Amino acid sequence: MTQQVFARIAGTGSYLPEKVVTNDDLAKVVDTSDEWIAARTGIRQRHVAADGETTGDLAYHAAVRALEAAGVQASELDLIVLGTTTPDLVFPSTACLVQHRLGAAGCPAFDVNAACSGFVYALTIADKFIRSGAAKTALVIGSETLTRMVDWNDRTTAVLFGDGAGAVVLKADTETGILSTHMHADGSKKELLWNPVGVSVGFKENEPNAGVRINMSGNDVFKHAVKALDSVVEETLEHNGLDRHDIDWLIPHQANLRIIEATAKRLDMPMERVVVTVDKHGNTSSGSVPLALDAAVRSGKVQRGQLLLLEAFGGGFTWGSALLRY
Ligand code: COA
Repeated sequence: MTQQVFARIAGTGSYLPEKVVTNDDLAKVVDTSDEWIAARTGIRQRHVAADGETTGDLAYHAAVRALEAAGVQASELDLIVLGTTTPDLVFPSTACLVQHRLGAAGCPAFDVNAACSGFVYALTIADKFIRSGAAKTALVIGSETLTRMVDWNDRTTAVLFGDGAGAVVLKADTETGILSTHMHADGSKKELLWNPVGVSVGFKENEPNAGVRINMSGNDVFKHAVKALDSVVEETLEHNGLDRHDIDWLIPHQANLRIIEATAKRLDMPMERVVVTVDKHGNTSSGSVPLALDAAVRSGKVQRGQLLLLEAFGGGFTWGSALLRY
């Protein structure tokens, strides 16, 4: 009988740009307040990439830290998957740029665009490679510079987003690791959360919407996110024959504290067992889950052997989860 192979997290890393923008800083630019932002979203501050600092730069630094933590050399990697919706260039992929900088020439490297679910999608793909024997050591990154497409004059979106990156190194392991992953998408809700600018549709410089980047119907997105996340956590528990009380840590996408609290309630989890970084990071899209995971690992909250539930929801809509034994 062939032995089952799992993809196990061997090390985590993350990187945040130096510049911090607080809610009070934003209140000087648009008609908002720290009270409003904190009460509606839980966000207090976000990091913003410096001029010239790219998604690839953030990804590279997060990757170096993850490799260090895993004790893995870049030359040992046989797969790099990078979740992003804000790539440095149209092509080559940001994964290829990072691969070159790391000195990991030769292994496959590609980007995945699933908006805020990018890391969970990327992790799922890498898990499949490792389970199938196609890779033994994989680097999975979620990295974004979402503030590049924020309209700082639009208070309904500007207060929500930040920049950052997180990464994990996965290694084939015969004992345990990622137990299951679940991905979903519904392309029919495109206009509730989107950036209408693109290559193939044309850049339409002179149209009224030119320059307006992230478009979002906040209320609708909120409702869809809560419903989709409820359903995917149920699906994950059922698939693994687990009770909701078996989960040690919920590591959710960090978009809005109220969405996180709704999922925690569904799982009957006290907030002490939920990793929350949205207050410090804002919504970093693909960066958010691996940033939260790395923070929880480095602070000593998450311990080896514990059961972690990762989940995310984003534009597309896309949503997904991963259940893993750390
Ligand atoms: N500061 C102050 N007031 C603001 C504001 C801001 N930054 N943004 C909106 N408002 C105002 C609105 O104009 C509105 O005013 P009105 O009642 O006079 O029209 C009022 O606050 C309520 O707006 P509403 O949009 O109903 O608030 P909300 O409670 O739904 O919160 C979001 C708005 C965006 C915080 C919330 O809908 C949300 O987080 N949605 C999910 C977004 C998300 O997570 N997206 C990414 C998913 S990956």
